[in-house]
Amino acid sequence: MNKKNILTGDRPTGRLHLGHYFGSLKQRAMLQDEYNTYIIIADVQALTDNFENPDKVRKNVREVVLDNIAAGIDPKKTTIFIQSMIPQIAELTVFYSNLVTVSRLYRNPTIKTEIGQKQHLFGSGGESVTYGFLGYPVSQAADITAFDGALVPVGEDQIPLIEQTKEIVRKFNKIYGDTLVEPDYMVGANSRIKGLDGNEKMGKSLGNAIYLNDDEETISKKIMSARTDTNKIKKDDKGNPDNCMVYYYHKLVSNDSLETINKECRNGSRGCVSCKKELIKNMIEFLKPMQERRKYYEDRPELIDEILRTGTAKALEKAEEVMKRVRKNMKIDYFS
Ligand code: TRP
Repeated sequence: MNKKNILTGDRPTGRLHLGHYFGSLKQRAMLQDEYNTYIIIADVQALTDNFENPDKVRKNVREVVLDNIAAGIDPKKTTIFIQSMIPQIAELTVFYSNLVTVSRLYRNPTIKTEIGQKQHLFGSGGESVTYGFLGYPVSQAADITAFDGALVPVGEDQIPLIEQTKEIVRKFNKIYGDTLVEPDYMVGANSRIKGLDGNEKMGKSLGNAIYLNDDEETISKKIMSARTDTNKIKKDDKGNPDNCMVYYYHKLVSNDSLETINKECRNGSRGCVSCKKELIKNMIEFLKPMQERRKYYEDRPELIDEILRTGTAKALEKAEEVMKRVRKNMKIDYFS
């Protein structure tokens, strides 16, 4: 009865990949018994930088639900809901926006990085950044607090957003009295997965990601072109696994054979091609149970609809309970 709440989620802008899995999905699946878990499909947030692509956002809502279920989220235990269907989140966002300065938002490291990456939308110096995009950390604070979220399992890139939520909560509680739960974040042990090319980040736009739903041929192709130690040219050259993306991924999915792989690479008895083939096999094996779970629901789209409908109804109830507290303490509960 006294379980604490988790609130976390994803933007429906594309399929989820290994970076999402190790950054957040794995943790949320592990914790769903211990916590009351809410997963937000953040379509409103997705629109802040996709306002011209409503079809893309809509299409990916179901994909992201499928990916969550594939990663082990049990829709019987966990509440999955659609952000835009919870008006209380929009309401809270308006009230919280009084508690945040524009300059603080510009200084948020995640916002800063993203404005830099989205020059086509927001201009080369960020001079055309929208009010909505700049303000999405405020809306994310509403996402979390509308559900009394105490813990937020997220990837490393999200930490500044949770920090900003904490600030908003403290300020709110100080002004209006103890009302909101202050959340903590939790990042996985492998909270930032590098791309196949060695790039610090695995990302859709970078073309260096393995998706949870990639088929065998795609996985093979991607791994065969992964970056290896550039000093190991011939099969029997001694290699340094620390400079090799294939070994990096072995560390994620090849626990049992890791020591052997490391030793054989270093002493020159392991060629990169066979090493890649072994990784392909292990990766396919690793993703297989996820893909089977996904397939079951993919074949039954009416189940996904039902999960979202039930989840959203339950989420609405919780958000209204929190909203009542907020209205009362802000002295805007006029007729109650
Ligand atoms: N910002 C998250 C992402 O880009 C998605 C998200 C929206 C979220 N609201 C949230 C994550 C609340 C954690 C808590 O993936």
